[in-house]
Amino acid sequence: MGRPSDLTCSRCAKTFTSSRAVNLCDCGAPLLVNYDLPAVRNSWRKDDLKTAINSMWRYAPVLPADLADAVTLHEGWTPLTRANRLGRECGARNLWIKDESRNPTDSFKARGLSCAVTMAKKLGIRKLAVPSAGNAASALAAYAAAAGLEAHIFMPRDVPEANLVECQAFGANVTLVEGLIGDCARIVSERKHPEGWFEVTTLKEPYRIEGKKTMGYEIAEQFDWRLPDAILYPCGGGVGQIGMWKAFSELEQLGWIGAERPKMIAVQAAGCQPIVRAFERKLEASEIWPDANTVASGLRVPKALGDFLVLNSIRESRGAAIAVPDEAIIDAGLQLARCEGIFPAPEGGACVAALKSLLGSGYLSADERIVIFNTGSGLKYLEAYATRFSRQSASEQDKLGGLITPR
Ligand SMILES: Cc1ncc(COP(=O)(O)O)c(C=O)c1O
Ligand SMILES: [Zn+2]
Repeated sequence: MGRPSDLTCSRCAKTFTSSRAVNLCDCGAPLLVNYDLPAVRNSWRKDDLKTAINSMWRYAPVLPADLADAVTLHEGWTPLTRANRLGRECGARNLWIKDESRNPTDSFKARGLSCAVTMAKKLGIRKLAVPSAGNAASALAAYAAAAGLEAHIFMPRDVPEANLVECQAFGANVTLVEGLIGDCARIVSERKHPEGWFEVTTLKEPYRIEGKKTMGYEIAEQFDWRLPDAILYPCGGGVGQIGMWKAFSELEQLGWIGAERPKMIAVQAAGCQPIVRAFERKLEASEIWPDANTVASGLRVPKALGDFLVLNSIRESRGAAIAVPDEAIIDAGLQLARCEGIFPAPEGGACVAALKSLLGSGYLSADERIVIFNTGSGLKYLEAYATRFSRQSASEQDKLGGLITPR
Protein backbone atom coordinates (compact mmCIF):
# COMPACT_ATOMS: atom_id res chain seq x y z
CA MET A 1 0.00 0.00 0.00
CA GLY A 2 0.96 3.62 -0.37
CA ARG A 3 3.41 3.17 -3.23
CA PRO A 4 2.99 5.71 -6.01
CA SER A 5 0.80 4.31 -8.74
CA ASP A 6 2.13 6.78 -11.29
CA LEU A 7 2.95 10.45 -11.92
CA THR A 8 0.57 12.88 -13.61
CA CYS A 9 1.36 16.18 -15.29
CA SER A 10 -0.11 19.06 -13.32
CA ARG A 11 -1.05 20.84 -16.56
CA CYS A 12 -1.86 18.36 -19.38
CA ALA A 13 -2.60 15.25 -17.25
CA LYS A 14 -0.17 13.03 -19.21
CA THR A 15 0.93 10.11 -17.03
CA PHE A 16 4.42 8.72 -16.40
CA THR A 17 5.64 5.61 -14.65
CA SER A 18 7.05 6.05 -11.17
CA SER A 19 9.59 3.28 -11.69
CA ARG A 20 11.98 5.52 -13.64
CA ALA A 21 13.57 8.85 -12.67
CA VAL A 22 11.85 11.75 -14.44
CA ASN A 23 11.94 15.51 -14.19
CA LEU A 24 9.22 17.52 -15.98
CA CYS A 25 6.41 16.58 -18.35
CA ASP A 26 7.16 17.12 -22.08
CA CYS A 27 4.91 20.20 -21.83
CA GLY A 28 7.29 21.70 -19.24
CA ALA A 29 4.99 21.45 -16.21
CA PRO A 30 5.74 19.73 -12.87
CA LEU A 31 4.63 16.15 -12.24
CA LEU A 32 2.48 15.14 -9.28
CA VAL A 33 2.61 11.77 -7.54
CA ASN A 34 -0.55 9.60 -7.41
CA TYR A 35 -1.40 6.87 -4.91
CA ASP A 36 -4.12 4.27 -4.83
CA LEU A 37 -5.96 6.25 -2.16
CA PRO A 38 -9.04 3.98 -1.98
CA ALA A 39 -6.68 1.09 -1.12
CA VAL A 40 -4.82 3.21 1.42
CA ARG A 41 -8.16 4.25 2.92
CA ASN A 42 -9.04 0.59 3.53
CA SER A 43 -5.80 -0.28 5.27
CA TRP A 44 -4.66 2.85 7.15
CA ARG A 45 -6.41 4.31 10.20
CA LYS A 46 -5.91 7.53 12.14
CA ASP A 47 -5.30 5.32 15.16
CA ASP A 48 -2.24 3.81 13.46
CA LEU A 49 -0.58 7.20 13.95
CA LYS A 50 -0.62 6.76 17.75
CA THR A 51 2.30 4.36 17.47
CA ALA A 52 3.94 5.83 14.36
CA ILE A 53 7.44 7.32 14.31
CA ASN A 54 7.74 10.99 15.30
CA SER A 55 8.97 12.19 11.93
CA MET A 56 7.25 12.95 8.62
CA TRP A 57 7.67 9.25 7.74
CA ARG A 58 4.72 8.58 10.07
CA TYR A 59 2.71 9.23 6.88
CA ALA A 60 4.60 6.56 4.89
CA PRO A 61 1.38 5.08 3.38
CA VAL A 62 1.02 8.32 1.39
CA LEU A 63 4.73 8.76 0.73
CA PRO A 64 6.66 7.16 -2.13
CA ALA A 65 8.80 4.81 0.01
CA ASP A 66 8.64 2.77 3.20
CA LEU A 67 10.32 4.02 6.34
CA ALA A 68 12.79 1.12 6.02
CA ASP A 69 14.02 2.57 2.69
CA ALA A 70 13.95 6.22 3.74
CA VAL A 71 17.04 8.39 3.81
CA THR A 72 16.04 10.15 7.00
CA LEU A 73 17.61 12.46 9.57
CA HIS A 74 14.37 12.66 11.56
CA GLU A 75 12.70 15.46 9.61
CA GLY A 76 9.20 16.75 10.24
CA TRP A 77 6.73 16.32 13.12
CA THR A 78 7.76 19.83 14.12
CA PRO A 79 5.97 21.74 16.89
CA LEU A 80 2.76 23.64 16.21
CA THR A 81 2.89 26.12 19.07
CA ARG A 82 0.29 28.56 20.32
CA ALA A 83 1.76 32.08 20.09
CA ASN A 84 -0.06 33.97 22.82
CA ARG A 85 2.39 36.79 23.39
CA LEU A 86 2.90 37.52 19.69
CA GLY A 87 -0.85 37.14 19.16
CA ARG A 88 -1.56 39.74 21.83
CA GLU A 89 0.84 42.23 20.24
CA CYS A 90 -0.65 41.64 16.77
CA GLY A 91 -4.31 41.41 17.78
CA ALA A 92 -4.84 37.70 16.98
CA ARG A 93 -6.40 35.62 19.76
CA ASN A 94 -5.91 32.19 18.18
CA LEU A 95 -2.46 32.34 16.61
CA TRP A 96 -0.16 29.35 16.02
CA ILE A 97 3.37 28.93 14.71
CA LYS A 98 4.49 25.89 12.77
CA ASP A 99 8.16 25.96 13.62
CA GLU A 100 10.11 24.38 10.79
CA SER A 101 13.45 25.62 12.10
CA ARG A 102 13.50 22.42 14.18
CA ASN A 103 14.22 20.28 11.12
CA PRO A 104 17.63 18.81 10.21
CA THR A 105 19.74 21.60 8.65
CA ASP A 106 17.33 24.01 10.37
CA SER A 107 14.74 24.42 7.64
CA PHE A 108 11.69 22.81 6.07
CA LYS A 109 13.75 21.97 3.00
CA ALA A 110 14.76 18.82 4.88
CA ARG A 111 11.31 17.32 4.25
CA GLY A 112 11.47 17.61 0.47
CA LEU A 113 15.07 16.52 0.18
CA SER A 114 14.58 13.50 2.45
CA CYS A 115 11.94 12.27 0.00
CA ALA A 116 13.84 13.25 -3.15
CA VAL A 117 17.12 11.65 -2.04
CA THR A 118 15.27 8.53 -0.87
CA MET A 119 13.71 8.10 -4.31
CA ALA A 120 16.91 8.97 -6.19
CA LYS A 121 18.77 6.29 -4.23
CA LYS A 122 15.97 3.77 -4.80
CA LEU A 123 16.05 4.45 -8.54
CA GLY A 124 19.82 3.91 -8.71
CA ILE A 125 20.94 7.53 -9.16
CA ARG A 126 24.42 8.39 -7.81
CA LYS A 127 24.90 12.10 -8.62
CA LEU A 128 22.48 14.85 -7.69
CA ALA A 129 22.54 18.54 -8.65
CA VAL A 130 20.58 21.54 -7.45
CA PRO A 131 20.47 25.30 -7.89
CA SER A 132 19.50 26.83 -4.55
CA ALA A 133 18.98 30.07 -2.68
CA GLY A 134 20.63 28.39 0.31
CA ASN A 135 18.47 26.16 2.47
CA ALA A 136 17.68 23.55 -0.19
CA ALA A 137 21.40 23.29 -0.83
CA SER A 138 22.11 22.64 2.85
CA ALA A 139 19.41 19.99 2.96
CA LEU A 140 20.54 18.26 -0.24
CA ALA A 141 24.14 18.25 1.03
CA ALA A 142 23.09 16.63 4.31
CA TYR A 143 20.84 13.94 2.79
CA ALA A 144 23.32 13.15 0.02
CA ALA A 145 25.98 12.70 2.72
CA ALA A 146 23.67 10.41 4.69
CA ALA A 147 22.90 8.37 1.55
CA GLY A 148 26.49 8.27 0.29
CA LEU A 149 25.59 10.10 -2.96
CA GLU A 150 27.33 12.99 -4.73
CA ALA A 151 25.80 16.49 -4.37
CA HIS A 152 26.59 19.26 -6.89
CA ILE A 153 25.35 22.60 -5.67
CA PHE A 154 25.05 25.98 -7.41
CA MET A 155 24.22 29.00 -5.28
CA PRO A 156 24.23 32.78 -5.84
CA ARG A 157 27.50 34.35 -4.70
CA ASP A 158 25.70 36.32 -1.95
CA VAL A 159 24.13 33.23 -0.36
CA PRO A 160 24.18 33.37 3.47
CA GLU A 161 27.60 32.30 4.81
CA ALA A 162 26.02 29.59 6.97
CA ASN A 163 24.60 27.73 3.95
CA LEU A 164 27.91 27.87 2.10
CA VAL A 165 30.00 26.57 4.99
CA GLU A 166 27.39 23.95 5.87
CA CYS A 167 27.31 22.51 2.32
CA GLN A 168 31.09 22.34 2.28
CA ALA A 169 31.10 20.67 5.69
CA PHE A 170 28.77 17.96 4.35
CA GLY A 171 31.25 17.28 1.56
CA ALA A 172 29.18 18.67 -1.32
CA ASN A 173 30.72 20.13 -4.49
CA VAL A 174 29.78 23.80 -4.26
CA THR A 175 29.94 26.44 -7.00
CA LEU A 176 29.09 30.08 -6.31
CA VAL A 177 27.47 31.86 -9.25
CA GLU A 178 27.42 35.55 -10.15
CA GLY A 179 23.65 36.11 -10.40
CA LEU A 180 20.35 34.79 -9.03
CA ILE A 181 18.86 31.34 -8.62
CA GLY A 182 17.68 31.38 -12.25
CA ASP A 183 21.30 31.73 -13.39
CA CYS A 184 22.25 28.79 -11.15
CA ALA A 185 19.38 26.77 -12.64
CA ARG A 186 20.59 27.45 -16.17
CA ILE A 187 24.05 26.08 -15.36
CA VAL A 188 22.58 22.91 -13.84
CA SER A 189 20.39 22.34 -16.94
CA GLU A 190 23.33 22.83 -19.28
CA ARG A 191 25.75 20.58 -17.42
CA LYS A 192 23.51 17.79 -16.15
CA HIS A 193 23.68 15.60 -19.28
CA PRO A 194 27.44 15.74 -19.86
CA GLU A 195 28.11 15.27 -16.13
CA GLY A 196 25.50 12.54 -15.56
CA TRP A 197 23.73 14.49 -12.80
CA PHE A 198 20.06 14.05 -11.86
CA GLU A 199 18.43 17.41 -11.27
CA VAL A 200 16.54 17.84 -7.98
CA THR A 201 15.67 21.45 -8.72
CA THR A 202 12.50 22.82 -7.08
CA LEU A 203 9.46 21.34 -8.87
CA LYS A 204 11.62 19.76 -11.60
CA GLU A 205 11.60 16.60 -9.53
CA PRO A 206 8.30 15.13 -8.29
CA TYR A 207 9.21 13.95 -4.79
CA ARG A 208 10.15 17.19 -3.03
CA ILE A 209 6.45 18.11 -3.09
CA GLU A 210 5.68 14.78 -1.41
CA GLY A 211 8.02 15.59 1.47
CA LYS A 212 6.68 19.09 1.86
CA LYS A 213 3.05 18.01 1.75
CA THR A 214 3.58 16.36 5.14
CA MET A 215 3.33 19.88 6.63
CA GLY A 216 -0.35 19.75 5.64
CA TYR A 217 -0.83 16.29 7.19
CA GLU A 218 0.85 17.46 10.39
CA ILE A 219 -1.25 20.60 10.75
CA ALA A 220 -4.39 18.50 10.28
CA GLU A 221 -3.27 15.88 12.81
CA GLN A 222 -1.95 18.39 15.36
CA PHE A 223 -5.31 20.19 15.25
CA ASP A 224 -7.14 16.88 15.65
CA TRP A 225 -8.24 16.84 11.99
CA ARG A 226 -9.91 20.27 12.05
CA LEU A 227 -8.03 22.52 9.65
CA PRO A 228 -7.32 26.14 10.68
CA ASP A 229 -9.07 29.17 9.16
CA ALA A 230 -5.95 30.55 7.52
CA ILE A 231 -2.37 29.53 6.74
CA LEU A 232 0.28 32.14 6.00
CA TYR A 233 3.11 30.64 3.99
CA PRO A 234 6.30 32.37 2.71
CA CYS A 235 6.12 31.59 -0.97
CA GLY A 236 9.21 31.37 -3.18
CA GLY A 237 8.97 28.35 -5.48
CA GLY A 238 5.67 27.54 -3.79
CA VAL A 239 6.48 23.86 -3.16
CA GLY A 240 5.14 23.89 0.39
CA GLN A 241 1.90 25.57 -0.60
CA ILE A 242 1.35 23.20 -3.53
CA GLY A 243 2.22 20.27 -1.28
CA MET A 244 -0.15 21.26 1.55
CA TRP A 245 -2.96 21.82 -0.96
CA LYS A 246 -2.34 18.30 -2.31
CA ALA A 247 -2.27 16.93 1.25
CA PHE A 248 -5.68 18.40 2.06
CA SER A 249 -7.16 16.85 -1.07
CA GLU A 250 -5.65 13.45 -0.20
CA LEU A 251 -6.93 13.71 3.38
CA GLU A 252 -10.42 14.37 2.07
CA GLN A 253 -10.17 11.33 -0.24
CA LEU A 254 -9.07 9.27 2.78
CA GLY A 255 -12.18 10.49 4.58
CA TRP A 256 -10.10 12.05 7.39
CA ILE A 257 -11.28 15.63 6.77
CA GLY A 258 -14.22 17.21 4.94
CA ALA A 259 -14.36 19.75 2.13
CA GLU A 260 -13.37 22.69 4.33
CA ARG A 261 -10.06 24.41 3.55
CA PRO A 262 -8.01 27.15 5.20
CA LYS A 263 -7.51 30.42 3.36
CA MET A 264 -4.11 29.83 1.73
CA ILE A 265 -2.12 33.06 1.97
CA ALA A 266 1.06 33.37 -0.08
CA VAL A 267 3.49 35.83 1.49
CA GLN A 268 6.20 37.39 -0.68
CA ALA A 269 8.76 40.17 -0.34
CA ALA A 270 8.15 43.62 -1.84
CA GLY A 271 11.38 43.23 -3.84
CA CYS A 272 10.20 40.00 -5.50
CA GLN A 273 6.42 39.51 -5.70
CA PRO A 274 5.50 37.79 -8.97
CA ILE A 275 2.70 35.71 -7.41
CA VAL A 276 1.16 38.75 -5.71
CA ARG A 277 1.17 40.68 -8.95
CA ALA A 278 -0.36 37.76 -10.90
CA PHE A 279 -3.04 37.30 -8.23
CA GLU A 280 -3.94 40.99 -8.27
CA ARG A 281 -4.14 41.00 -12.06
CA LYS A 282 -6.12 37.75 -12.11
CA LEU A 283 -3.52 36.06 -14.34
CA GLU A 284 -3.23 32.27 -14.73
CA ALA A 285 0.54 32.38 -14.24
CA SER A 286 3.14 34.91 -13.11
CA GLU A 287 5.57 37.00 -15.12
CA ILE A 288 9.30 37.17 -14.38
CA TRP A 289 9.95 39.72 -11.60
CA PRO A 290 12.84 41.93 -12.74
CA ASP A 291 15.79 42.73 -10.42
CA ALA A 292 14.51 40.44 -7.66
CA ASN A 293 15.92 41.53 -4.33
CA THR A 294 15.14 40.70 -0.68
CA VAL A 295 16.86 39.67 2.57
CA ALA A 296 14.51 36.69 2.65
CA SER A 297 16.66 34.78 0.18
CA GLY A 298 14.19 31.87 -0.08
CA LEU A 299 11.63 34.30 -1.51
CA ARG A 300 13.97 35.59 -4.22
CA VAL A 301 12.39 33.49 -6.97
CA PRO A 302 11.56 35.75 -9.97
CA LYS A 303 9.30 33.14 -11.61
CA ALA A 304 8.24 29.80 -10.18
CA LEU A 305 7.58 26.80 -12.40
CA GLY A 306 4.50 25.92 -10.36
CA ASP A 307 3.14 29.47 -10.12
CA PHE A 308 -0.19 28.43 -11.70
CA LEU A 309 -0.64 25.75 -9.02
CA VAL A 310 0.04 28.25 -6.21
CA LEU A 311 -2.43 30.69 -7.78
CA ASN A 312 -5.04 27.92 -8.03
CA SER A 313 -4.69 27.09 -4.34
CA ILE A 314 -5.09 30.76 -3.41
CA ARG A 315 -8.19 31.21 -5.55
CA GLU A 316 -9.86 27.93 -4.64
CA SER A 317 -9.38 28.64 -0.92
CA ARG A 318 -10.48 32.30 -1.19
CA GLY A 319 -7.00 33.08 0.04
CA ALA A 320 -4.72 36.01 -0.61
CA ALA A 321 -1.27 36.99 -1.82
CA ILE A 322 0.56 39.80 -0.07
CA ALA A 323 4.01 41.36 -0.23
CA VAL A 324 5.89 42.97 2.67
CA PRO A 325 8.99 45.18 2.58
CA ASP A 326 12.37 43.99 3.91
CA GLU A 327 12.43 46.45 6.83
CA ALA A 328 9.08 45.10 8.04
CA ILE A 329 10.32 41.52 7.52
CA ILE A 330 13.30 42.01 9.83
CA ASP A 331 11.26 44.01 12.38
CA ALA A 332 8.62 41.28 12.50
CA GLY A 333 11.23 38.51 12.69
CA LEU A 334 12.74 40.19 15.75
CA GLN A 335 9.28 40.71 17.24
CA LEU A 336 8.60 36.97 16.90
CA ALA A 337 11.95 36.22 18.53
CA ARG A 338 11.27 38.58 21.47
CA CYS A 339 7.71 37.38 21.99
CA GLU A 340 8.04 33.64 21.57
CA GLY A 341 11.69 32.63 21.98
CA ILE A 342 11.82 31.42 18.37
CA PHE A 343 14.50 33.10 16.22
CA PRO A 344 12.94 32.86 12.75
CA ALA A 345 14.32 33.01 9.25
CA PRO A 346 13.33 36.31 7.59
CA GLU A 347 10.82 34.23 5.61
CA GLY A 348 9.07 33.50 8.94
CA GLY A 349 9.29 37.20 9.81
CA ALA A 350 7.58 37.95 6.50
CA CYS A 351 4.56 35.91 7.63
CA VAL A 352 4.31 37.92 10.86
CA ALA A 353 4.51 41.19 8.92
CA ALA A 354 1.81 39.93 6.53
CA LEU A 355 -0.37 38.83 9.45
CA LYS A 356 -0.30 42.35 10.92
CA SER A 357 -1.15 43.88 7.59
CA LEU A 358 -4.07 41.47 6.94
CA LEU A 359 -5.47 41.97 10.46
CA GLY A 360 -5.19 45.73 9.88
CA SER A 361 -7.07 45.56 6.59
CA GLY A 362 -9.80 43.37 8.11
CA TYR A 363 -9.11 40.44 5.74
CA LEU A 364 -8.23 38.36 8.82
CA SER A 365 -10.09 38.74 12.10
CA ALA A 366 -8.90 38.45 15.69
CA ASP A 367 -10.78 35.23 16.48
CA GLU A 368 -9.79 33.19 13.45
CA ARG A 369 -7.49 30.21 14.00
CA ILE A 370 -4.40 31.29 12.10
CA VAL A 371 -1.16 29.38 11.42
CA ILE A 372 2.00 31.19 10.42
CA PHE A 373 4.96 29.27 9.08
CA ASN A 374 8.46 29.81 10.28
CA THR A 375 10.28 27.91 7.57
CA GLY A 376 13.84 28.19 8.88
CA SER A 377 16.22 29.45 11.53
CA GLY A 378 17.40 33.03 11.97
CA LEU A 379 20.83 31.60 12.73
CA LYS A 380 21.25 31.01 8.98
CA TYR A 381 20.75 34.73 8.31
CA LEU A 382 23.09 36.44 10.73
CA GLU A 383 24.27 38.89 8.04
CA ALA A 384 20.71 40.20 7.69
CA TYR A 385 19.88 40.41 11.39
CA ALA A 386 23.31 41.72 12.44
CA THR A 387 22.53 45.01 10.67
CA ARG A 388 20.23 45.75 13.63
CA PHE A 389 22.78 45.17 16.38
CA SER A 390 26.20 46.57 17.18
CA ARG A 391 29.12 44.48 18.33
CA GLN A 392 30.85 46.56 20.97
CA SER A 393 32.94 45.22 23.79
CA ALA A 394 32.28 46.51 27.31
CA SER A 395 35.45 48.60 27.28
CA GLU A 396 34.40 50.29 24.02
CA GLN A 397 31.06 51.15 25.54
CA ASP A 398 32.81 52.64 28.57
CA LYS A 399 35.05 54.73 26.34
CA LEU A 400 32.10 55.89 24.30
CA GLY A 401 30.55 57.11 27.53
CA GLY A 402 33.72 59.15 28.11
CA LEU A 403 34.62 57.28 31.27
CA ILE A 404 36.92 54.38 32.07
CA THR A 405 35.18 52.78 35.01
CA PRO A 406 36.97 50.55 37.54
CA ARG A 407 35.91 46.87 37.37
C1 LIG B 1 13.48 29.61 4.73
C2 LIG B 1 12.70 29.49 3.45
N1 LIG B 1 11.41 29.84 3.46
C3 LIG B 1 10.64 29.75 2.33
C4 LIG B 1 11.18 29.33 1.13
C5 LIG B 1 10.27 29.21 -0.07
O1 LIG B 1 9.85 27.87 -0.19
P1 LIG B 1 8.88 27.31 -1.31
O2 LIG B 1 9.73 26.87 -2.44
O3 LIG B 1 8.15 26.17 -0.69
O4 LIG B 1 7.96 28.43 -1.69
C6 LIG B 1 12.54 28.95 1.07
C7 LIG B 1 13.13 28.48 -0.20
O5 LIG B 1 14.31 28.56 -0.42
C8 LIG B 1 13.31 29.03 2.26
O6 LIG B 1 14.59 28.67 2.27
ZN1 LIG C 1 2.17 18.05 -19.38
